Amino acid sequence: MRVGPLCGVLVGVLVVGVVVGELPPPDASYKILMLLPISSKSHRNVFIPVAEALAERGHKIVMMSNTAKPMNHPNIHEFDHGVPDFNEDNINMFEARKQKFGGLGTLNTILPAVARKLYKRPEVMKLYNRRKEFDVIIIDHMFNEVAYPFLHEMPFITLVTGGMDHRHSAVLGNVLNPSYAPNFLTDFPAPLSMWHRFINTLGHIGLAFYWRNWVTVPLVQKEITAQFPDLPPLLDIERNLSLALINTHFTISKTMPVLPSEVEVGTMHCRPAQPLPQDLETWISGAGPEGVIYFSLGSVAKGSSMPTEYRDAFIEAFRRLPHRVIWKYEGELKGVSDNVLIQKWLPQQDILAHNKVKVFITHGGLLSLQESIYHATPLLSIPIFGDQPKNALFVKNKGLGDMLVWEELTADALVNTLTEITTNPQYTRNMESVSRPLRDQLTTPKERAVYWTEYVIRHKGAPQLKCPAAELSWVEFLMLDVLAVLLVVLHITIYILYRILRAISAKIFGHQKVKSKRE
Ligand SMILES: *[C@@H]1O[C@H](CO)[C@@H](O)[C@H](O)[C@H]1NC(C)=O
Repeated sequence: MRVGPLCGVLVGVLVVGVVVGELPPPDASYKILMLLPISSKSHRNVFIPVAEALAERGHKIVMMSNTAKPMNHPNIHEFDHGVPDFNEDNINMFEARKQKFGGLGTLNTILPAVARKLYKRPEVMKLYNRRKEFDVIIIDHMFNEVAYPFLHEMPFITLVTGGMDHRHSAVLGNVLNPSYAPNFLTDFPAPLSMWHRFINTLGHIGLAFYWRNWVTVPLVQKEITAQFPDLPPLLDIERNLSLALINTHFTISKTMPVLPSEVEVGTMHCRPAQPLPQDLETWISGAGPEGVIYFSLGSVAKGSSMPTEYRDAFIEAFRRLPHRVIWKYEGELKGVSDNVLIQKWLPQQDILAHNKVKVFITHGGLLSLQESIYHATPLLSIPIFGDQPKNALFVKNKGLGDMLVWEELTADALVNTLTEITTNPQYTRNMESVSRPLRDQLTTPKERAVYWTEYVIRHKGAPQLKCPAAELSWVEFLMLDVLAVLLVVLHITIYILYRILRAISAKIFGHQKVKSKRE
């Protein structure tokens, strides 16, 4: 079964330590600006471990976000820019799910609105005017083009919160091949069939061009140009990117080629278990041999926004199951059976680490996925939107659990799937075979995040990391010009050969013809 508690703590401290202990002390205390003006709570949750680790090193962090919360570190100052347009609390994820691409289209109204209002806020403009005081900027890679004016003539790093994103990788010169690389939304089982490669190619091109060239960024660009007429185009500013910290690791995603400037830092927030509050500990350890089911839809999808028929299916399934259930739910729930414990907030990692907890019912957000693999707890994924279907597919294909689809959710399906996951030991074995190599790393993800951030500062943007591919146009990168020349040469060669053969045949056969006529 799982690594024993003491051993787990030791491994945790030695291998995936919480502290950034192995690095020599920094040259100086740096000033670091973090920009996540358009971010969900889960994106912010990826920034926090980086901010804390850098603050621990004595650096001073300023964070501009739209989801600011009190931070208890003297070296971190986070402020909310106050533009209200992007607020995930106003989005019902179960509604967004019904729209194409999970409602990404609404961003075409939200982002230009934020771009229009952001720089009118005095506190934002004050920060903008003193941005050159900072040694480096770290920006959320997704949805945040509105903040690119800050990056002009500054060294900057992106935090790729959603894991590898083919559009973003291409900016650094690492163009991922759609024959095997997923895009940030969808994936197919490997090896991809001809049809899947066809769809995937269109997906790679379509998503990148729709966002960057045809619709979204041009709308933001218009608003920015109106306020900063002398600024180069946003996507030109982006090309000066020094480094990407990517929230993934090859053990817990499809393995992708990366450049030296693409550093995998996934599972930074994962940590060894801490003792549970007494009531939870008693509830969990008091469960029968069947163990405990843990159910949470994360920070974004409120349980209370769940359509009634789904909620009833869960209540009914939990009544029929012999397990104890811990359900993260905001608000009152009527008709739940005695084996169900409901709480608003729960210490998720400490629950997942408990060896009585047999399965985690999740929406399949990336951070939840990372935590359950880190703590080796099998999953039942019921993805809602965004990258969650892709994560659920990963769980299913790797045998780390199973997945269900909301539209086909019934109490029977839940009972059957949960019984299978909690009684078949293969799921835990598969989890452990992924979890163990995940913990087997030379440096911790936090150490890498800190080291490479300081590296970019020390080497003034670290131009030595730049891959020459990043400087090429698409025609040059795909060698369309070279192919065109080769095609012309081939045609000319064939044409010349043809003329020569014709001339020769005319000589031989033409002569014969004349001859035969005469005879
Ligand atoms: C590109 O980045 C370097 C440092 O990383 C900075 O000095 C330079 O001004 C930047 N150029 C532009 C156009 O932003």
